[in-house]
Amino acid sequence: MAVRVGIMGATGYTGFELYKLLRKHPAVQVVWLTTESYGGQRLSDVFPCPWDEPLIALADAAVDAVDVVFLCLPHGASMDAVAAVRRAGVRAVDLSADFRLHDPAVYQRWYGAAHKQPALLAEAVYGLPELHRAEIAGAGLVANPGCYPTSVILGLWPLAEAGWLRGAVIVDSKSGVSGAGRKPKLSTSFVEANENLSPYSIGYSHRHIAEMEQELGQAVERRGDAAQSGGPGQAAGFSIVFSPHLLPVSRGILSTIYVALPPGVDEAAVRAAYVRRYAGEPFVHLLPAGQVATLQHAVGSNRCAVGLTVVDGVAGGATLIVTSAIDNLIKGASGQAVQNMNVMFGLAETMGLE
Ligand SMILES: NC(=O)c1ccc[n+]([C@@H]2O[C@H](COP(=O)([O-])OP(=O)(O)OC[C@H]3O[C@@H](n4cnc5c(N)ncnc54)[C@H](OP(=O)(O)O)[C@@H]3O)[C@@H](O)[C@H]2O)c1
Repeated sequence: MAVRVGIMGATGYTGFELYKLLRKHPAVQVVWLTTESYGGQRLSDVFPCPWDEPLIALADAAVDAVDVVFLCLPHGASMDAVAAVRRAGVRAVDLSADFRLHDPAVYQRWYGAAHKQPALLAEAVYGLPELHRAEIAGAGLVANPGCYPTSVILGLWPLAEAGWLRGAVIVDSKSGVSGAGRKPKLSTSFVEANENLSPYSIGYSHRHIAEMEQELGQAVERRGDAAQSGGPGQAAGFSIVFSPHLLPVSRGILSTIYVALPPGVDEAAVRAAYVRRYAGEPFVHLLPAGQVATLQHAVGSNRCAVGLTVVDGVAGGATLIVTSAIDNLIKGASGQAVQNMNVMFGLAETMGLE
């Protein structure tokens, strides 16, 4: 029997991308689509597409008529909607940031508001299947990761597991404009963004740092070798220095990440750790030596392409440069949400994504 799904926020970029993936998914029936601003209209009135599905208000969505709800709403708006879905006993995949951070105090520090559903944080599983597949399979609530964190965590995870993530980790990321959502803003308007490349939220200020620290910190803490130094970003012995940029393309994220390797760790050891960790992962594409990840390796697919380059003799040691590319709307959002749904419902993980 098909998995029946509802999409809250189907008129945004991630919601529409999700609809496009799910309508072709062989084991899914899309039951309803919600909107905030276009109630009573059809999908084809909002996007240039041939699909006439009706758009309904969130309050009219029959939650008990579906097996899973995907929430593609702005953070803050998702909290109470997720709570209503869970009260109805229906599973949820939330694409917003509302349930990604386990600690409500950390949420408040980064998002500037108290969490309205802190009790639900305990049941939320961080939805990166490459890290948490077993918990996702049994989860009632999956918190789909942020787009930048997906590229950075997958780019660094084998290093964190090996205990080689130490000191300052410089993350230089570029994102296409769809990463900012469909709602018009001056900074993402054509004339401001086109033929330009703008850093924003640089320093220790972008909210996605919290997810990167939480997830990568787990690997370091599990090894029991966390530093005691404390301070922003240093609780697990490393600090993320994150510089996101707005790139004038519609979609795609490229993160270029610089890590000083511990003494004695060379390129062969690093590559062996990545090969071992990602063997059998259908959506992590580890590039051969000499190749770097580009947007074209990933855009249009659910893949994360990872390239590894080691430079010797920088400040007396070896520096690893990781290049990690994803499509922000697919592996960074809606494709990953489908991957999570496949895991939750015991379907082949790649179904509807190949
Ligand atoms: N864009 C990305 O690359 C990306 C990647 C990963 C995660 N995310 C996260 O995914 C979520 C959706 O992102 P997006 O880019 O798709 O945003 P978007 O394009 O701005 O779409 C937002 C959607 O939510 C609806 N909405 C807005 N406010 C609402 C409210 N108060 N109650 C109910 N519905 C409301 C909108 O309806 P109307 O269109 O009818 O106004 C629209 O359908 C966000 O939390 C975002 O941070 C985005």
